[in-house]
Amino acid sequence: MAIISSNIGDNDFPLRKKELRLVDAKIIAEEKIKNNLNLARPANLNQFIGQKQLKSSLRIAIDASIYRKEPMEHTLLYGQPGLGKTTLAFLIAKEMNTKCRVATAPAIERPRDIVGLLLGLKEGEVLFIDEIHRLNYLTEELLYSAMEDFRIDLTMGANKGARCRTINLPRFTLIGATTKLASISAPLRDRFGISQKIEFYTYDELKQIILNFSQLINLNLDDEASYNLAKISRGTPRIALRLLRRVRDYAQVVQKTNFVSLNLIKKALNSYQIDEKGLDTLDRQYLSFLNQNNNIPTGLDSIAAGLGDDPSMLEFVVEPYLIQIGFLTRTPRGRLLTALGKRYIDSKNDYF
Ligand SMILES: Nc1ncnc2c1ncn2[C@@H]1O[C@H](COP(=O)(O)OP(=O)(O)OP(=O)(O)O)[C@@H](O)[C@H]1O
Ligand SMILES: [Mg+2]
Repeated sequence: MAIISSNIGDNDFPLRKKELRLVDAKIIAEEKIKNNLNLARPANLNQFIGQKQLKSSLRIAIDASIYRKEPMEHTLLYGQPGLGKTTLAFLIAKEMNTKCRVATAPAIERPRDIVGLLLGLKEGEVLFIDEIHRLNYLTEELLYSAMEDFRIDLTMGANKGARCRTINLPRFTLIGATTKLASISAPLRDRFGISQKIEFYTYDELKQIILNFSQLINLNLDDEASYNLAKISRGTPRIALRLLRRVRDYAQVVQKTNFVSLNLIKKALNSYQIDEKGLDTLDRQYLSFLNQNNNIPTGLDSIAAGLGDDPSMLEFVVEPYLIQIGFLTRTPRGRLLTALGKRYIDSKNDYF
């Protein structure tokens, strides 16, 4: 796909400023369940596109537990943001014909928060804890016996008057999701009977996700358009859907049409400063920074300071895709542009 060229002025595109802010804030990191995103969630495991191996393992685990009339084993889902961990957690609960209670680890601050969550569960229900690597130590300790023996041991009172009380819990399934597997303590990790990685998606899978969603939002994409949008979606459904919504805005507001061709996609993405590789302003600034530094190995903190950005955002959001497309390598001494990355950013020297 050639780089997008269009002569759209600001006045031709009323949403531009607001939308640009969104793109700049990094589409992958933004608030997840919004507007049509719920609509985008597949209705059952069969409709969940891709991840063949993972789906078939889950299918077996779900069917086995239904057969034995037992809750499914505790399950850990890990992988990059936007690949479908939360979606899968809901689908597992749905397939088990039970409710999914949702919590994020940073919100479980005190022991009584996790105790309250556990006591609120009913037999067979799913407790989904997002960002599970961020649980604090006390909460983790309480979870160990809850996961293993479906009970919690509470210490009431203090000093000499302290008493230990055991509370039995209904049997439940804990589903944990994380983008940082390595940050989960070994004792917690070991208590998950199932641990599954969610991989990046192929272009064909993303194309299918794009086509399914475009039907739901009444947008008509031709084959070429959907495939090219898939190609710049960084292997990530959330990005594919996000880009698709931006394209829809552009098609409906600027071009007053529901028919999306490759040409329209190029114009729309150009207006959001997303290029033919799917890279946005921050990606290009990152590459330019290394390039201007004469491409000597540079530490993540120096890059973050130079760009005025958060190191972990660069590490987990920006870098994985640059590495995946062969523009960047991580060496023990720091980050380095590859020859491919250098050639690319040299051709875009107007960005930084
Ligand atoms: N395989 C898939 N088929 C169809 N849609 C998908 C698929 N995977 C993800 N999606 C869609 O992509 C979006 C992001 O998915 P989800 O929120 O489940 O990702 P996540 O892995 O939980 O991300 P995060 O780590 O940021 O929490 C959702 O709208 C979801 O419906
Ligand atoms: Mg999630």
